[in-house]
Formats: sequence, C-alpha cells, structure tokens
Amino acid sequence: MSLAKMIYEKTTSYLDTMPKTERKKIGQFFTPAAIANYMAGLTRSSGNIVSVLDPGAGSGILSAAIVDVLISKGVKEIYLDAYENNSDILPMLKENLTLIQRAAQDRYVALHFNIFEENFITENHFAWTGFINIQKYDIVIANPPYKKIGKRDAEASIMQDIVYGQPNLYFLFMAMGTRLLKDGGECVYIVPRSFSSGLYFTAFRNHFLNEVRITNLHLFTSRESVGGSGDNVLQETVILRAAKKNMRPDVIEITESSDESCHITNQYSVAYDTCVRKDSNSFLFFPSSEDDAQILNFVNQWPASLPELGYRMKTGMVVDFRETTWLCTDNKEEVVPLLWAYNFHENRINFPVEVDGKPQYLHNVQETNRLKMRKGNYLLLKRFTSKEERKRLQCALLFEEEFPLYDGISTENHLNFITKINGHMSKEELYGLFVVLNSSCMDRYFRILNGSTQVNANEINSIPFPAHRDLVQMGITAMHKTSLNDSDCDDILRNQFMSIAISQVM
Ligand SMILES: C[S@@+](CC[C@H](N)C(=O)[O-])C[C@H]1O[C@@H](n2cnc3c(N)ncnc32)[C@H](O)[C@@H]1O
Repeated sequence: MSLAKMIYEKTTSYLDTMPKTERKKIGQFFTPAAIANYMAGLTRSSGNIVSVLDPGAGSGILSAAIVDVLISKGVKEIYLDAYENNSDILPMLKENLTLIQRAAQDRYVALHFNIFEENFITENHFAWTGFINIQKYDIVIANPPYKKIGKRDAEASIMQDIVYGQPNLYFLFMAMGTRLLKDGGECVYIVPRSFSSGLYFTAFRNHFLNEVRITNLHLFTSRESVGGSGDNVLQETVILRAAKKNMRPDVIEITESSDESCHITNQYSVAYDTCVRKDSNSFLFFPSSEDDAQILNFVNQWPASLPELGYRMKTGMVVDFRETTWLCTDNKEEVVPLLWAYNFHENRINFPVEVDGKPQYLHNVQETNRLKMRKGNYLLLKRFTSKEERKRLQCALLFEEEFPLYDGISTENHLNFITKINGHMSKEELYGLFVVLNSSCMDRYFRILNGSTQVNANEINSIPFPAHRDLVQMGITAMHKTSLNDSDCDDILRNQFMSIAISQVM
C-alpha cells in the first residue's frame, strides 16, 4: 500500500467526526490517494537531498505521496516543511508525519520535518515583499484551500499586488508557493480551473505565468469525482506542474482522466504558445484534443479585441429585485421594452412574451435613464446557459427598427449586449459580430477558455476578434443568407479566412 493510501485511509476517521460544512468553511478537502500519487509522480527532482513544502498540509496526504516518490528515486535525505493552521487536523498531521518518517527510515531515508502551525500566507509575509532572505524549496506540492476572503483580510492585503476583485486563498497559496521555490524548482498544484480565464484572476495570472513555465496539465473529464471522500467539488479541477525557469518548454503535456483514479484516458502535447496566451490578460487554455488546439490557433491569430475594434460587451443593467418600482407589465405610455433571456427565439428577439413574474416593460422616467440603452442595433448574448444546452454562446440580433414606438430599450441582468463605443452600429457590423459569436468555432473556443457556464462580458471583451474589414465583409455575406445557424456561420468564417486546418475540425 502506498504511503498516501495509508494516510488517506486514516483520514477517513477524521472525516467521520468533522462535518463537511465545518471543513468547507476553511476550504478543507482531502486529496484522494491516487490523485496525490499522480501529482507526486509529476515531479522531476532527484539527487541526494531534496527540500519540499506542503502548504495547507491537512492530514499529510500529499507529503506522504511525495516522500514515497522521492524514496523511489533514490533520494537519501528529505527536508519537509508543512503548514497547517486548523487545530482540529493538527494532531493527525503530527501523527501521520511521524508515521511517514518511520516508513522512510525503514527504507534508509532520513525525513526531517517541521510543522508550522501558522497561517501560511501571513507567516511568509516577508517572502512576498522580498525583505529577507528566505528558505526556498526544490518542490512545492499543494491542494490549496478554496476559500473566498475579503479584500481587507490580512492575506489579501499582503499580496494585494496580485489581487483584483474577489480574492480567494487558493490562488494566493499558488503564488506564495512559487515565490518560495528555488530557481529551477517545481510546483505541483491541484486547483479549480477558474483562475485560467476569470477577470478576478487577471493580476494573479500575469504574475504566475511570468514566474513559472507550465509543463504538465491534467484535466478531469468528469467534474463530480474530484475531492474524494464524498466531497463534490463543484469547480472543475486541474492539476498543473510548473517549473520556475525562464526558458519555456516547446510544448505542454496534457493528460486526462475521467475520475479520481487518475487512470489516463487521453494524452497529447500542445505548443506552449497555444495554451499560454501572454498579453495584458494572460489566458491559460485547457485544450482537450488536437482539434481544440487547432481552434485556439485559428481564433488566437485574430488581431484585436472588441474594445480595440470600437465595440464593447456590457451586462444588462436591470437587476429585477432591485428595480421593482420601475418594472411594469403593461404597455402604457412612458415605458420602454425590457428584454430578458426569455425573449430569445431562434437568434432573434421575440417581444413581448408572457412569462409570469417577468415584466416586459420599464417605466421611462428620469430615474430609469441609467437603465436605458439608446436606440440602435445590438447583439445580445445570454449570460447563463445550462450544462445540458448545446451552445454556451447564445446570441440574438436586435434591430433598431423592431422597436419604433419607444425611445430606448433596456436589458435585464442575465443578458449581455454588444454596443458600438462611438456612433451607430451598422447592420453589416451587427451581422459580422453575429457570425463570429454564433459560430460553433467560437463556442468551442469559449468552452476551452472557460470551464463555467457563465458568459462574462469582460471575458468576451478580451478574446480576439477578426479585423473590422473582415467583420463587415462577413456581415454582408450573412445578410444575404436565408439561414444563419451555427454551421452557416462556420462556413462564412472558413471562407473568409480560407482556413484549411479549421475545415478539418469543424
Ligand atoms: C484543500 S485542503 C488540502 C489538505 C491536504 N493538503 C490534502 O491535499 O489532502 C487545504 C488545507 O489548508 C488548510 N488551510 C486553510 N487556510 C490555511 C492557511 N491560511 N494557512 C495554512 N493552512 C491553511 C486547511 O485547514 C486544509 O487542511
């Protein structure tokens, strides 16, 4: 039995005594043994002496796995530092590390360990600010706590240079962990994949992707299985190995498994630049096939973002429960149409529709000016879709002339809309934007970028779009078509860019 399995089995007694709700409050989930062993197996360090950091060590499962791997590589002396600040698990951690030490001794390996019963981030405050020379490690291995914290909390204040919006302990652990790596050292993390594209992680991503070079990614194709011990971790999870080096590898090795056994079901390598897009937003993509890589290469060659092209995606301003005073169900004088996701029908707007509790109008008074969009052509996009729906990007064309009786319109907060920053959006432009966002190519690109079902306006504002001239030309082509489903849009894209590679994928 592996050391990690032994420790994991011992941990189940703790799980029986500690309710999940309590553990969730501190982001405590234990890594199943097979995953821990897989993570440890990704490390490449060897030699006689190796130093390891396990921040947020829990019951020591990851420590057990890495010690096992290092022993099997012939390492003779291991220095292990574990951080854990939850007093409920600490007695078990102490007991387990002592057990692991004995097991190492039985194999003629000296394990020296320290347990820091401290907050990992605040304790390493000075490592972040760079004030003192600090102990650095060959390996950092972690399943960091997933826990949202306040912007003013001590951890976020210390690492404020990588905090933008809502901080989460997990990415602060990732960044602090890599700060504590020696040059050439390596980290292996199991983390939610949300950091790869979300707006709130932009500053962290820029920092992290500068500090390290990712060499391995492991994706779980089934999201419910990770977390073990009956803990259904809702976030999609990814394992990554990265090295603290300047030289970037040519490719990233990607593996997949369908459950926590980490039995590899798919394996391929993708060019580094295809996975890691380094610009002001620094995205990290998780392509799950060679075809996905083709899609990434195709879309990433487009030259500009929506704002750079003179457009911007925004989010509908009416949050229904906040604006109850202004919502109304009748088409009286002094109202403007209020559009909801319910109004989408076959890529157009069906208005009005009768849905209980979804008023179709907003009082058009001075106080609601802030909620109104000026008259014009808009591309609308749903913000939320369900996992079961075929398409993540669901859009509808909205033409100015469809609402001649009103002096504006408004959109509910579950919708996004694209507007022209200055001036009026022509029909050609509108259709051109529709071709891109309604294509299955862009839908797939978005799925590779974003594991969640939410379409965030900021994300759409930072992904690449074709040049204005191409958009308009495609718009003209689209306007003359009788049908414009996603594969028609793919055809228009393919013809516009003469892409042979993409023809084989879509
Ligand atoms: C997701 S669990 C992982 C436990 C263990 N490494 C494993 O993989 O099974 C994260 C651990 O970090 C601990 N933790 C949370 N915040 C911490 C902090 N600020 N400093 C140190 N440990 C912390 C939690 O108590 C929890 O045991």
